Amino acid sequence: GVAGTSVQGPGSTTDSRLASGEQPQTLTTRQGHPVTNNQNLRTVGSRGPATLENYHFIEKLSHFDRERIPERVVHARGAGAHGVFEAYGTVGDEPVSKYTRAKLFQEKGKQTPVFVRFSTVGHGGHSPETLRDPRGFAVKFYTEDGNWDLVGNNLKVFFIRDAVKFPDLIHSQKPDPVTNIQNQERIFDFFSGSPEAMHMITLLYSPWGIPANYRQMQGSGVNTYKWVNDRGEGVLVKYHWEPLQGIRNLTQEEAEKIQAKNFNHATQDLYEAIARGDFPQWELMVQIMEDGEHPELDFDPLDDTKIWPREQFPWLPVGRMTLNRNPENYFAEVEQAAFGTGVLVDGLDFSDDKMLQGRTFSYSDTQRYRVGPNYLQLPINAPKKHVATNQRDGQMAYRVDNAPGQNPHVNYEPSTLNGLTEAPRTAPDHTPLVEGRLVRQSIERTNNFGQAGEQYRNFEDWEREELIRNLVGSLADAAPHIQQRMVELFTQCDADYGRRVAEGLAQAAQGMEAQKEEAVQQAEEQSHEAQPY
Ligand code: HEM
Repeated sequence: GVAGTSVQGPGSTTDSRLASGEQPQTLTTRQGHPVTNNQNLRTVGSRGPATLENYHFIEKLSHFDRERIPERVVHARGAGAHGVFEAYGTVGDEPVSKYTRAKLFQEKGKQTPVFVRFSTVGHGGHSPETLRDPRGFAVKFYTEDGNWDLVGNNLKVFFIRDAVKFPDLIHSQKPDPVTNIQNQERIFDFFSGSPEAMHMITLLYSPWGIPANYRQMQGSGVNTYKWVNDRGEGVLVKYHWEPLQGIRNLTQEEAEKIQAKNFNHATQDLYEAIARGDFPQWELMVQIMEDGEHPELDFDPLDDTKIWPREQFPWLPVGRMTLNRNPENYFAEVEQAAFGTGVLVDGLDFSDDKMLQGRTFSYSDTQRYRVGPNYLQLPINAPKKHVATNQRDGQMAYRVDNAPGQNPHVNYEPSTLNGLTEAPRTAPDHTPLVEGRLVRQSIERTNNFGQAGEQYRNFEDWEREELIRNLVGSLADAAPHIQQRMVELFTQCDADYGRRVAEGLAQAAQGMEAQKEEAVQQAEEQSHEAQPY
């Protein structure tokens, strides 16, 4: 409870930081002035006009006026927790050092502190947590070599494979710019021209599109990364988080029941589980593929609309994460947390996945705007290790990143006057050869429908039924030509898939008129007319 956690008795009055007569809990302004009256602003007489020199009042109100920062342009609604990652030292049966020299993975039992933020994607900072939407799963590892962020989602694939399409995708998902209401017609208008989205849509409109909470869902890095060993050799990797709590998803109806009573259920579930000592855990798994184009596969390993089939690329455990501490302040830790795909440590590397490259620009760019250019000096984002840079100043510079003993006059490199020096290189760089024409071209093996159809056939019956019902329910609002384009795409995934959506839409069209009348009637019966007062 709120009362129980923060009430303390009066503290010592011998603290040299206290002015005479002050108690540790004495209210002050940000200037340290004791506040003797916090109930009344200063006015001429008890009913009179206010005066402008009232510093306390103006500081209080003007700070309040600035309490909000821009919310994340996507993933605005979230919840976070602190924890620890413990390495196995192995990847499957092999020593992990065969593939990566990243220090956090090397020794069995090695612990690295982490901070995790889970989120929904499309709507604002206080929107319901029951919505059909991917869920964000972002992990910051505070390693001895600096921070590593693994910024993933619950689902293992994504809507698009080229970063230049991201603003369009998000605009179609966000509320209509005129009505400020999310509109399924706009969503499917975009999807009907983006066939690479079919795999993701097939998952999103199934029960996998509404995880029951944040503890009982998987996570995935989605994009393809690399691991680099101490000889500088790279392999392609994908990351996945497997919840030890099991996986649980909701039907649309179950979600609506929860949403009618509680639109914060996932945040609450996470907070309360950790508060009662029921610490959620995930195992980190990787899939490994030799670096290269892999012409033998029917998909491109750099295409994030595809999964790497488990039978060919087994999930190999590398460690376990436990979330064991709630944030003490939501804003300072969860809201100001800044994750990015560019944040890697030695032994981890980028692949040429075009989405990954686009994302890597976008995250720190938005954070310099959203939080400010010195966002990495905030405690939640700062590495828990030595930081020494020649970057200086900017809004809200909180400290100077000097090394102890460094000449404070020298904020440049190279210097002979005791400035910062380059780190010694301890292992060879990974130096892949890149050659080709500069073009605007899609990858060759797009295969937009194969895995979507396979997923459709792999669902359990009830999942498939939900999928059709949810798609029909959403598509029913779209213009007939958009419905038609979508049915053609579903048909290419699987003939049965297309047929069932088409049948559902035909039925919906018949039922629609009757339903509309009924709904209006019901609303009239159920509302209670009020008298003016
Ligand atoms: C948040 C851009 C694709 C997962 C964000 C933010 C931006 C962004 C600008 C807000 C960051 C902030 O304000 O701190 C992009 C772009 C993408 C892309 C340009 C594609 C080109 C993806 C994909 C995933 C993903 C494929 C999943 C693997 C996340 C997560 C967050 C996020 C989890 C929230 C992080 C947090 O909790 O603070 N993205 N994104 N994004 N994105 Fe992406």
